[in-house]
Amino acid sequence: MSPKARSLQYHGRITRGDNLDLMTGLPGGCCDLIYADPPFFTGKRHTQADGGHCVGDHWPGGLDNYLDFLRPRLEQMRRLLKPSATLYVHLDWHAVHYVKVVLDELFGYDHFLNEVIWSYRTGGRSTRWFARKHDTILAYARKAGSQKFNLLRGGTFRTDGMNYDDQGRPYKQTRAGRLHFHPDGPALTDVWEIPFLSTVARERTGYPTQKPEALLERIIRAGTDPGSVVADFFCGSGTTLVVAERLGRRWIGCDISRSAVCLARARLRKVKTPAGGRSKKPSPIPGKRPCG
Ligand SMILES: C[S@@+](CC[C@H](N)C(=O)[O-])C[C@H]1O[C@@H](n2cnc3c(N)ncnc32)[C@H](O)[C@@H]1O
Repeated sequence: MSPKARSLQYHGRITRGDNLDLMTGLPGGCCDLIYADPPFFTGKRHTQADGGHCVGDHWPGGLDNYLDFLRPRLEQMRRLLKPSATLYVHLDWHAVHYVKVVLDELFGYDHFLNEVIWSYRTGGRSTRWFARKHDTILAYARKAGSQKFNLLRGGTFRTDGMNYDDQGRPYKQTRAGRLHFHPDGPALTDVWEIPFLSTVARERTGYPTQKPEALLERIIRAGTDPGSVVADFFCGSGTTLVVAERLGRRWIGCDISRSAVCLARARLRKVKTPAGGRSKKPSPIPGKRPCG
């Protein structure tokens, strides 16, 4: 089978198993964007309130053990990126600085693009240090300068005295005349205020480490166009895949947990595509037990 046909086999499919095995078998350069949300090195077992889903993040050998797990997987991800593709790695304060060093070694320091700060407010507050209320998403280009990047806009301009012309376009009156601002708002920066999923959020599935769709929407819109291939090899409840499907991107998913894969497949069955219909049911993987 040709390398292209081999990668096409995995489009619209979630594989249950160790992502290293899956990635090693995929042909190089088959992805336009990879989002990786691995365990964060928290040392905890994240469990759903009713004990349903459980995500292990315990590393008996400490940080070295964790980095030994992550390094070959990040190396494979780099191999899978097209020259115009980008990798987004989602972590928090526990290990992000160490993983940044690994990524610099693998990609080259010059191929680093962004340290996106996802800031949120939910959860408890420490009285012994500043509340830790952000995650960090590291973005690398396979080849800096050649990366696909769609500028995104949102929010409001921080400008007093904003006026709007008769077409609703924002402007400020200056001595030199009208200074027009972009009607869609300012270009997004690398600090993103997006609410954490609350216990009553409609998109909440109960998966303990589920990320908000709004976060993935930004990443996917910025790094790809419709028809591009988005991969998530730590897909958990399938947030990336659901958003990719909704935005008309092709996708490849993987997770080692059976309950995560079942949940992600169930979520995907409910997605409405850009054409307005329901997406087609993801095909079962030969040789795997069906879910639920
Ligand atoms: C932080 S969660 C991902 C959450 C996901 N972004 C979401 O929105 O639901 C990390 C996931 O990595 C999976 N995982 C851990 N080790 C893995 C491996 N070797 N291969 C594939 N998946 C793995 C876990 O089962 C878990 O679902």
